[in-house]
Amino acid sequence: DLNQTPYEALGGEPVLSSLVDTFYQYVSKHPDLVQLFPSDLTETARKQKQFLTQFLGGPSLYLEEHGHPMLRARHMPFVITPIQAEAWLDCMKKAMDDVGIDGLIREYFLERLTMTAHHMVNHPS
Ligand code: HEM
Repeated sequence: DLNQTPYEALGGEPVLSSLVDTFYQYVSKHPDLVQLFPSDLTETARKQKQFLTQFLGGPSLYLEEHGHPMLRARHMPFVITPIQAEAWLDCMKKAMDDVGIDGLIREYFLERLTMTAHHMVNHPS
């Protein structure tokens, strides 16, 4: 359906919510990521749900609560090499497998996440 936003094509709030929760379960166990994140990921997951909702053309939830994302600047306190970018994307692919996100929406979403993840790299490997 060409009139759908990617957010709607994904399945909206319930699908995005379980994707993000599943994603952070993988992050919390990934040896290249776990040390970067707080041990309680509740707030991190809440913000990521808000961000990805607007990233996919849904309501501007992140902007309304936190202002402009400035994602690269917000990631500067963390050392992110290409290793972390690939690890982040691997966790996302596993979460998409688990939640059953496939076809064109998966391709589209992963392509945009891949570009964004590489944009967050702020340190050589
Ligand atoms: C926050 C790591 C890629 C979106 C964070 C935080 C870390 C982190 C450590 C802080 C968590 C907290 O204190 O709650 C990484 C690493 C990445 C990566 C290692 C690998 C490339 C991405 C990508 C996106 C993203 C690709 C979006 C598509 C966010 C958002 C936040 C966040 C929205 C919350 C910002 C806020 O505090 O308001 N990330 N990230 N990150 N990240 Fe990433």
